[in-house]
Amino acid sequence: MPLRGRPAALLPLCLLCLQAALPLRGHRGRYAGDKVIRVVPESKRETQILRAAFNRLKVDLWQPSSPFHIVEGTVTDVRVPQNTSRSLLPYLQQADIPYTILISDLQKAIENQTGSRTYRNRRSLSEYNYEVYHSLEEIQGWMYHLNKTHSDLVHVFSVGKSYEGRPLLVLKLGKRSRPYKKAVWMDCGIHAREWIGPAFCQWFVKEALQMYQIDPAMRKMLTQLYFYVMPVFNVDGYHFSWTNDRFWRKTRSKNARFRCHGVDANRNWKVKWCDEGASFHPCDDTYCGPFPESEPEVKAVAHFLRKHRKQIKAYLSFHAYAQMLLYPYSYKYATIPNFSCVESAAYNAVNALQSAYGVRYRYGPASSTLYVSSGSSMDWAYKNGIPYAFAFELRDTGHFGFLLPETLIKPTCTETMLAVKNITLHLLKKCH
Ligand SMILES: *[C@@H]1O[C@H](CO)[C@@H](O)[C@H](O)[C@H]1NC(C)=O
Ligand SMILES: *[C@@H]1O[C@H](CO)[C@@H](O)[C@H](O)[C@H]1NC(C)=O
Ligand SMILES: *[C@@H]1O[C@H](CO)[C@@H](O)[C@H](O)[C@H]1NC(C)=O
Ligand SMILES: [Zn+2]
Repeated sequence: MPLRGRPAALLPLCLLCLQAALPLRGHRGRYAGDKVIRVVPESKRETQILRAAFNRLKVDLWQPSSPFHIVEGTVTDVRVPQNTSRSLLPYLQQADIPYTILISDLQKAIENQTGSRTYRNRRSLSEYNYEVYHSLEEIQGWMYHLNKTHSDLVHVFSVGKSYEGRPLLVLKLGKRSRPYKKAVWMDCGIHAREWIGPAFCQWFVKEALQMYQIDPAMRKMLTQLYFYVMPVFNVDGYHFSWTNDRFWRKTRSKNARFRCHGVDANRNWKVKWCDEGASFHPCDDTYCGPFPESEPEVKAVAHFLRKHRKQIKAYLSFHAYAQMLLYPYSYKYATIPNFSCVESAAYNAVNALQSAYGVRYRYGPASSTLYVSSGSSMDWAYKNGIPYAFAFELRDTGHFGFLLPETLIKPTCTETMLAVKNITLHLLKKCH
């Protein structure tokens, strides 16, 4: 953690004059006046000023996920609470660092994202609406429902319990056609605030069940493979993002020595744990936890994947936002042994995705395409013998950020579906 404790006095402007953000309380109206701004540092000096300011002010970084990932030329999106913006924005102007405002009033943006809930909640499960975001209770109810109504293709089970005691539900999808089948693992919602992820996992299951009868490709997928779909990995965090803090990212575990809750569930895996791109500090958004697999959610899924690693040929994890398709490694700049097979799968997948609406995804190793991070689920899956490990960063590139409107669920899921089908069908062929 080289950045923590960098002497503020070395900076050209008085950082100490800036007030730290006051803690926010309550859900309703808690983001009134908050802004999301974008800065692209152009020099070492600007990078240092931004890192120091964001470290000190404890602003909420949306992209990248922590101050040490801020480097020259990278887009940096940050949520600035109203109190902080009164001092931060003039400070940036003084320092001659240009910024743009992506979202000028976050509370209004939140209210625009999710329409009338009362209307939606009255709908029955048989006419489930896949074009809105669903609460954890709704998603779990939907899973139990499918387990009953589609018992030929669906089997729902729990791989463990979350920190707060919720079941960690996984939906196994596929025709029980032969004793041994290869499988694909998909998880969504490792990071609580990335709501488009769980919406996609649900969309995938819907499409599979609807298209099974009419689409030969889908029929082939469900006949020859099993899909393990975990729509909400971080159940406690996701619930918290609905009830308390829309921009919560981590799990909800308590810390013995600090008042801050939660661990980054994508830094808690036993692969180069808590090295570069992760934080030892419990209050940081990329906190790696006290030890690997400290989080019951990570431990339960790691246990399941370990047990089924011979069967599982692909690991797909859905995040947001950046519009990228990433493969290992995350924790180092190096080429994976199976590079050409994985690379061509990614190349074809982003092309298939683009064919729907022309939306472009960047693709490549996570370290060089996004940033270096250690202890990620994707690297762990790859290291544990799953040859195709991918992480999707879904729409968009920052216009709405985590507040992707519900009207964009359908196009986002439709194009992502093409990519997932393409990767899956690739698995059924030999790659040399
Ligand atoms: C799903 O249904 C099966 C019976 O078909 C049942 O044994 C199982 O417990 C159900 N899963 C859950 C999570 O309730
Ligand atoms: C995968 O996508 C590529 C590029 O769009 C396409 O050429 C190929 O036919 C697709 N494969 C499948 C099986 O859909
Ligand atoms: C490379 O991929 C093949 C399957 O395509 C797999 O059998 C092999 O184990 C993989 N090797 C590594 C190092 O991942
Ligand atoms: Zn994420």
